[in-house]
Amino acid sequence: MGYPLLLAFCYILLSSKSLISIAEDTLRPNQIFTNGRTLVSSSQSFELGFFTPGSSKNSFLGIWYKNILPQTVVWVANRNNPIIPGSSSASLSLGSSGFSISTNESLIVWSVNVSVVLNSPILQLLDNGNLILRDESGADAEGYVIWQSFDDITDTLLPEMKLGWNLVTGLNRNMTSWLSSSDPSAGEFTFSVDRPAQAPQLVVRKRSAMLYRWGPWDGVRFSGSNELKSNPVFTPIFNISSEEVYYTFELIDKSTLSRFVMNQDGSVVYFTWRASDNQWGGVVTLQQNTCDGYGICGPYGSCDSKGPSCMCLKGFAPKSPQEWQRLTWTGGCVRNWDLDCKNGDGFVRYEGLKLPDNSFLFANRSLSLKECEAECLKNCSCMAYTRIDIHARGGDCVMWFDELVDMRNYPDGGEEIYIRMARKELEKASETERREVPYQVHREEMQEEDLELPILDFDSISAATDKFSIANKIGEGGFGTVYKVVLY
Ligand SMILES: *[C@@H]1O[C@H](CO)[C@@H](O)[C@H](O)[C@H]1NC(C)=O
Ligand SMILES: *[C@@H]1O[C@H](CO)[C@@H](O)[C@H](O)[C@H]1NC(C)=O
Ligand SMILES: *[C@@H]1O[C@H](CO)[C@@H](O)[C@H](O)[C@H]1NC(C)=O
Ligand SMILES: *[C@@H]1O[C@H](CO)[C@@H](O)[C@H](O)[C@H]1NC(C)=O
Ligand SMILES: *[C@@H]1O[C@H](CO)[C@@H](O)[C@H](O)[C@H]1NC(C)=O
Ligand SMILES: *[C@@H]1O[C@H](CO)[C@@H](O)[C@H](O)[C@H]1NC(C)=O
Repeated sequence: MGYPLLLAFCYILLSSKSLISIAEDTLRPNQIFTNGRTLVSSSQSFELGFFTPGSSKNSFLGIWYKNILPQTVVWVANRNNPIIPGSSSASLSLGSSGFSISTNESLIVWSVNVSVVLNSPILQLLDNGNLILRDESGADAEGYVIWQSFDDITDTLLPEMKLGWNLVTGLNRNMTSWLSSSDPSAGEFTFSVDRPAQAPQLVVRKRSAMLYRWGPWDGVRFSGSNELKSNPVFTPIFNISSEEVYYTFELIDKSTLSRFVMNQDGSVVYFTWRASDNQWGGVVTLQQNTCDGYGICGPYGSCDSKGPSCMCLKGFAPKSPQEWQRLTWTGGCVRNWDLDCKNGDGFVRYEGLKLPDNSFLFANRSLSLKECEAECLKNCSCMAYTRIDIHARGGDCVMWFDELVDMRNYPDGGEEIYIRMARKELEKASETERREVPYQVHREEMQEEDLELPILDFDSISAATDKFSIANKIGEGGFGTVYKVVLY
């Protein structure tokens, strides 16, 4: 064997390398990127290319895990602009104004156009799954990202992706489900960080209708979202500053593959890859039971997952006892005594609750509980207040100006809220309190014998709720509404 053979071998090796494109993570303007070519991130974790989902004939540009079968797509560029059959030789090209996907007839299917002129644009797929557009010749070329796929979330949140707001640019990123497993176009469900009156909450919507809501953020958790807590797989993170308000998560073991997905059935699930049996396993599902459903107990009703069933908050009775008897709860509850702002309403403290929807951050500063109460009392349409630590600066005053909806009993990690009540109710409640001394405020402290006490106060609704025995419920420890009276 002589040199010629070795040279020939080397030649074959080289030429085959240039034919079968080697896995690069970067695309430059003069390079051709058509169906079949891919970019692979430097440590081989993610791959970008054209794909055809499920039984579809359409193709899309997307990002998937490089080493996982079946192909698991985490981002789709042209989700609403498919490349239809017949124009199979679609290509991705990069130029001075951005990049675009076009068919071989030069029809532009989808594009990212930027407002600056790019001298040496590059598209690079990073190891975290982020596709970024940079200008290599720019002054601060290394760090400056002109566009990134992480700002254009499809249905999947990967570690380091931010769900929510960039307050400086106004960008609001949400997760939107695929229409079906063969169609990545925007489906009906979205998962987003909402900021009604600056008090952030997590919301799942079906089109525009709210299906699930967790919040407001109280400095530790989104009220009522015990599922989103630190666990052996990931640490949830919520960051709120003057520039950004976003939710993200960090993996405990960075080598785990984990993704958070807005599914086509409306569920929001954390999946982790199990190498043992080559499958995605659900680790955490945000929706746990009927009580997660938005406002199922109507105004001033509180849901108890031990049922699942609804109860009126103390001091309220079913608006329509007949409906409640038929276990139709959405009509909610009404006050036993009407408010009379001029003649001195007061507040009753409830605890162990998921806080209701539509909270209003009173002022952009820390207020004491007394100050917060005074502010709420001043305004006759303020229905409730509480003090939570949204900004981690020692307590924010939040108020509610509408009917209180979407509460549930939350014995573990529930919150306190002070609800405006008529003077009559306050008087009655204080009598009850005297009768029942020693009254135990904290549910956890209730002993077996104490558990019988609060039942007496439910005479107003017990008639209507014979169907589902409240006594049993309390026996199970499913009752979380206790109160303390504040008199003026
Ligand atoms: C584009 O691709 C289709 C399918 O591969 C082919 O039939 C058609 O002739 C191509 N058109 C041009 C302009 O190359
Ligand atoms: C981006 O630019 C291309 C041509 O350069 C144009 O056809 C396309 O409509 C533009 N897209 C948007 C969203 O402006
Ligand atoms: C989610 O994002 C999409 C795309 O930016 C937007 O059209 C839609 O209005 C957003 N929906 C919600 C609920 O934020
Ligand atoms: C939260 O966001 C701010 C502003 O965007 C940033 O400076 C800070 O590092 C972030 N904090 C964490 C813990 O990521
Ligand atoms: C709220 O106050 C903080 C400092 O206390 C400040 O950084 C922030 O910009 C303020 N936000 C608004 C919306 O005024
Ligand atoms: C009560 O608060 C609401 C909501 O902030 C406001 O629109 C209304 O003007 C206030 N009313 C009074 C009398 O201050």
